[in-house]
Amino acid sequence: MMKVGVVGCGTMGSGIAQVAATAGHEVVVYDKNSEQAYKAGESLKKIMARLVEKGRKTQEESDAIIGRIRFIDDLSAFDNCGLVIKHIIFKELEDVVDADCILATNTSSLSVASIGSVLEHPERMVGLHFFNPAPLMPLVEVVPCVQTKEGLAEECKKLMEDWGKAPAIVKDTPGFIVNRVARPFYGEALRIYEEGIADFATIDWAMTELGGFRMGPFTLMDYIGNDVNYIVTETVFASFYYDQRYKPSFTQKRHSEAGYLGRKSGRGYYDYAEGAVQPEPTKDETLGKEILNRILAMLINEAVDAVFWNIASKEDIDLAMTKGVNYPKGLLKWSDEIGLANVLATLEDLENKFGEDRYRPSYLMKKMVEEGRTFY
Ligand SMILES: NC(=O)c1ccc[n+]([C@@H]2O[C@H](COP(=O)([O-])OP(=O)(O)OC[C@H]3O[C@@H](n4cnc5c(N)ncnc54)[C@H](O)[C@@H]3O)[C@@H](O)[C@H]2O)c1
Repeated sequence: MMKVGVVGCGTMGSGIAQVAATAGHEVVVYDKNSEQAYKAGESLKKIMARLVEKGRKTQEESDAIIGRIRFIDDLSAFDNCGLVIKHIIFKELEDVVDADCILATNTSSLSVASIGSVLEHPERMVGLHFFNPAPLMPLVEVVPCVQTKEGLAEECKKLMEDWGKAPAIVKDTPGFIVNRVARPFYGEALRIYEEGIADFATIDWAMTELGGFRMGPFTLMDYIGNDVNYIVTETVFASFYYDQRYKPSFTQKRHSEAGYLGRKSGRGYYDYAEGAVQPEPTKDETLGKEILNRILAMLINEAVDAVFWNIASKEDIDLAMTKGVNYPKGLLKWSDEIGLANVLATLEDLENKFGEDRYRPSYLMKKMVEEGRTFY
């Protein structure tokens, strides 16, 4: 079994190391900050102890997993790794690792091609985009770039399956699948609020109660952090050459600027202070359906457009949204159930009303409606 190297042991690096060690690999984790390496080691022990306590792992399994991970402050320990994950310092890594070692980046925002461009042998470069927390979230986006050699993406996909993950292969494009397709969940919710149609609580109620989403958009943004969520949106918006579909929201920017970051700062769209009274939604079914239909139509439009541009297969797009962000159904499967013609009608209605490019339906959606086709 190949040895796995991880560079950086913050939130993502330590989670990924845990996943690889649980799958049976020897793992070396390097962080330039030795204090961080120590902290990650201590926190892993705590996480494993909790899993033993809950009966999810035996003491022996836990000891073996901890025993397989080595936290180091010297890159030379990567010498005989088969796979190294992270994006920084790839050039230095290449001098240390074997010629056939796969180099993978967990970047959410940089292009895999640009990271690979520093390498002598960029054909070994691939993106492996894990979701936070890595030990719990099944999805891994496997991202071959223009330089990646034939067959490497499939090899990585197989490896991720062996690690108990749900891999989806996706083109090296901004936001990959999830951070692209999910944008309207936040953006359209914010827009509906800005238009004065409904407040945060009512929009969240519509999406959870009527839509079956585990969390409403505002509750979720408060979880993710408004600063983080805003930056992802801004990055995607700029990366798509300012396509209006991804336009960020002033409401979110102002909340972020005000320090209303969400749970982590004690206040976001909601107040998380102890004893704070939460606002009541307006449980109006007609209004709720209007909100749900509008956000869902925008989400489905993104998913359909991603199919049109060959970003990923329809199966992988549905997998990504259910396994990466816990959507109750794959968006394309959902569109079959609602009827693509109904989704198109919602979008065309918004497009006519506002005259904004933001609401333009994907060409593929129009074509499929015309031909009476479904996704499955
Ligand atoms: N946090 C998320 O939700 C998330 C999800 C998917 C992907 N990512 C991506 O994962 C990466 C890391 O994110 P994170 O949230 O774990 O960050 P983090 O700040 O928690 O951890 C980064 C770690 O890398 C170390 N580091 C930085 N430069 C280094 C170097 N040159 N050599 C060795 N170690 C170095 C730092 O000391 C730190 O411990 C980013 O590229 C991010 O885009 C993050």
